[in-house]
Amino acid sequence: WRVPNVLHIDLCHFSNSPANMALGGVAAQSSLFYPWTLPSTVIDGNTDSSYFDGSCSSTQGQENQWWRVDLLAPYDILSVEVTRRTDCCISDLNGAEVRIGNSLENNGNNNPRCGVITVTSAVTMNFNCSQMTGRYVNIFLPRVGYVQLCEVKVSNLLFV
Ligand SMILES: *[C@@H]1O[C@H](CO)[C@@H](O)[C@H](O)[C@H]1NC(C)=O
Repeated sequence: WRVPNVLHIDLCHFSNSPANMALGGVAAQSSLFYPWTLPSTVIDGNTDSSYFDGSCSSTQGQENQWWRVDLLAPYDILSVEVTRRTDCCISDLNGAEVRIGNSLENNGNNNPRCGVITVTSAVTMNFNCSQMTGRYVNIFLPRVGYVQLCEVKVSNLLFV
């Protein structure tokens, strides 16, 4: 018998690493700093962490700024990987929260919290969110500051 195409695709993922669901999502953020610091640069598959190369996002420096990816459907999440900016301002993300869920209340920032960013020398920070399910993944900074991100990967439990 013939293996349907869709099954073939799933088996390919099965034998490799988890899929990055953020790549197929739609990104948004609370405000825009430069015209090119778009929310979509965070889910473009390019982890370049040097801000002026053009593949990082930035909001303006106000209170309660956020970035969000809409995965377009709820998924059982495995992990969230956040790549920060490296050329400057690295402590700006300190205290930013990774939030996951299905609600758009307060732009999704009221969804359950998976973790809080503490900036170290690590450029990419990995959060184990394996108990969580959701359509929206937010990075929410509950203070005055800039949300600047270079990549966010969202791994889906189904593909492990
Ligand atoms: C993630 O956390 C769960 C329990 O919450 C644990 O069972 C699992 O081993 C953890 N995964 C990793 C990669 O640390």
